[in-house]
Amino acid sequence: MTLTVILVDCGLELIPKEIINNPAIQKSIKNRSYPLKLLDNALHHTSMGKLKNLTKRGRPDIVHACLLNALGSPLSKSGNLKLYMHTVNNKLYKINTEIKIARNYNRFKGLMAKLLIEGEIRTEDLLLISRIEKKLSELLKSISSEEIILFSSKGKLVKNHFELFDKNLTKNYVVILGCFQKGYFSDDISNLSNKIVSISRYHLDAWVALSKVIGYYEISNDIV
Ligand SMILES: C[S@@+](CC[C@H](N)C(=O)[O-])C[C@H]1O[C@@H](n2cnc3c(N)ncnc32)[C@H](O)[C@@H]1O
Repeated sequence: MTLTVILVDCGLELIPKEIINNPAIQKSIKNRSYPLKLLDNALHHTSMGKLKNLTKRGRPDIVHACLLNALGSPLSKSGNLKLYMHTVNNKLYKINTEIKIARNYNRFKGLMAKLLIEGEIRTEDLLLISRIEKKLSELLKSISSEEIILFSSKGKLVKNHFELFDKNLTKNYVVILGCFQKGYFSDDISNLSNKIVSISRYHLDAWVALSKVIGYYEISNDIV
């Protein structure tokens, strides 16, 4: 039985057309290397003002922290994690949990830009990240799971793992977490499940919330 984690609204995109001609952006992309093709709030902040949905965009650093947390967990090492990434532009990707994500942020950005441009990351014999040509709702229908849980600080507070997951890997769960800095799920995403759960009285960073959810699942199922 598996825990399927879907990281939604990831701030992962190439520099959009609306701002590509901005002189500051042109200066930064002159050397044409992959990492510089990715929108990154830390570099492009001053040019991003006009973009819609701004608080969810240009944050590959949050995706990086989340992927390192999920893929380095005992859950992942035990083979019981399935991982998907959904971007602010509604692109969906499946991540093979055997991938070794670059620890170095710049190398990670290069990998993500390559993914967005080419649609997949592979070695000679292993597909590591692949594009899924489906909507989120269609993906959820295709996964056999007994429960879909959305995590949000606006949800019903649970205080321990018993309230969240059954013991002993008896059920398949899908958990959906926001991979963004501020704001809440759009209605389209909120409507994907009736079960919205909070795991803290506080607004947590995405990677902290993800780590806690995975930790609860590991404790429930004796994955150490
Ligand atoms: C930085 S938060 C987004 C900010 C938003 N104000 C919030 O607290 O949900 C990123 C993601 O972390 C998860 N998260 C943060 N705090 C949480 C909490 N107290 N309970 C459950 N999930 C939480 C949610 O999935 C959220 O979309």
